[in-house]
Amino acid sequence: MAGKRTFTMIKPDAVNAGNTGAITKMIEEAGFRIVAMKKTQLSKTRAGEFYAVHKERPFYNDLCAYMSSGAICPMILEKENAVEDFRKLIGATDPQKAAPGTIRNLFAKSIEANAIHGSDSDDNAALEGNFFFSNLERF
Ligand code: RTP
Ligand code: MG
Repeated sequence: MAGKRTFTMIKPDAVNAGNTGAITKMIEEAGFRIVAMKKTQLSKTRAGEFYAVHKERPFYNDLCAYMSSGAICPMILEKENAVEDFRKLIGATDPQKAAPGTIRNLFAKSIEANAIHGSDSDDNAALEGNFFFSNLERF
C-alpha cells in the first residue's frame, strides 16, 4: 500500500521571492495535511548531508551552495499516495519541462533554483522528515 507521508522543503529562491504562502496554499488545496513545518537555514555542510545521494554528480557543489544560500521551509505532509501525488504536484526538476500548473512551472527560476523539493520514495520521505523534525509522536 502506498505511504501516507512525504517530505518537502520550499527552497531559497521561492522563500526569498515571497512565494512561501502561495506555494503552501497550493499544497493544502491539493489535499495535503501539514503535519510539521518550520522556517530555517541549512549550513553548507548540512545541505551536503541532506543531498549526500548526489555527491558524485557534477552539480553537487553548486547545489549545496545554493541550498544553504537562504531560508528554507521544510514540511512533513500527509495524504493517501503522498510521495507520488506530491511529485506530480511539483512537476519535473527542470521548470522548462514541468507541466503547466505545477509548482515548479509556476514558481521555479531554473533547474537548480527550482522552488521546491519532494521526496522520491517512502523510505526517503521518512529519512528526510527525521533530518529536520523529531518528537512528532503527538501528530
Ligand atoms: P528534489 O530532490 O530537490 O525534489 O529534485 P528532483 O528529485 O526533481 O531532482 P534530483 O535529481 O534529485 O536533483 C536534486 C536537485 O539538484 C538540483 N539540480 N541541479 N544543475 C543541474 O543540472 C541540476 N540538476 C539537479 C535541483 O535543485 C534538483 O531539484
Ligand atoms: Mg530528488
